[in-house]
Amino acid sequence: MLKKEIFISSIIILVIALFSSYFYIKNNNNSTKELKVFNMNNKEKIFSYISNTEDYIPKYREMYEQINYHNEENYNKEINVLLNLNYTPLEINNIYDFIKRNNIKKLLTAEKLDLTNYYNITNFEVDKINRYEEYVNLHNCSLDEAVLKVNIGLDHDFYTQIESIQNNNDYTILVNKYHSLGDYEPSDLKSLSYDKKYQLREKARDAFEELVSSAKLENVFIRPYSAYRSYKYQQSLYNTYVNRDGEKNADTYSARPGHSEHQTGLAVDVWSEGYNELLNNDAIWLKENSYKYGFIIRYTKENENITGYIEEPWHLRYLGIDIATDVYEKNLTYDEYYDLYIK
Ligand code: DAL
Ligand code: ZN
Repeated sequence: MLKKEIFISSIIILVIALFSSYFYIKNNNNSTKELKVFNMNNKEKIFSYISNTEDYIPKYREMYEQINYHNEENYNKEINVLLNLNYTPLEINNIYDFIKRNNIKKLLTAEKLDLTNYYNITNFEVDKINRYEEYVNLHNCSLDEAVLKVNIGLDHDFYTQIESIQNNNDYTILVNKYHSLGDYEPSDLKSLSYDKKYQLREKARDAFEELVSSAKLENVFIRPYSAYRSYKYQQSLYNTYVNRDGEKNADTYSARPGHSEHQTGLAVDVWSEGYNELLNNDAIWLKENSYKYGFIIRYTKENENITGYIEEPWHLRYLGIDIATDVYEKNLTYDEYYDLYIK
């Protein structure tokens, strides 16, 4: 009899415990949600920060009461400039919630722009808006795609609007037909063990040696056939190709001097050991495995329109394992990746 009572009381206690934890969790969730909404509606407004300062402009009082406060340098002054340009409080709140600082700076000196379609596009740049819109009309593509393509420079011909690269020594450096290295020379070139005439920058050299020995373990035998190339060497190479095939053709497979990744000391071309080419199986192995050692295949068939080069399954570019893996997983060209994640 006693056992039965203990059993029944345990069941009752268990049921009470289950019910109370259910209600506790439910209530707790509700209160978190309410709190969030409460916070959103209660963002501090700029009015209380500006009203006693020399920046206060009485005719904007109602606007100040709707504009969220942000703790930025010169915020009061910037708000006045945007209000003078006829931006509404809602637009101003969106600008400071979604738009990067360097773009906001540009907005302050431009005519009023309709940014509705740009708040979600993180890589857009205020001074390229006309080019984005022209690109959309011309190519009938999405605004996201237009922003990416225009940022790369693809609305202009290759080798026009060329920028000089400032961060020459960065391992993440972007070199292409719109970005020139000038006569840059890396300072930490090291020879490859295969033959000392082939050189790469130190980290790229170490990574490449590792790639070659790991490949060997999987019966893939590759060797370097071109690594670091100076400006001068690239110049003579390019000129030879132009004399042989004409400029238009040469441009599809050879970089002009100052524009070759080989000049960074971070790129290496590979052949299959014992052959004057890269065998198909070896190319497949490289495509699937290079990122594990920090390299990407820089020029692919699908991206000839973006890179401006016909595919080169043998051209490896060192970026370090983290970035190479991310580029591989996102399946982007480095030109796109750089604009979206590095710049
Ligand atoms: N072949 C590659 C594009 C270069 O010349 O750098
Ligand atoms: Zn190459």
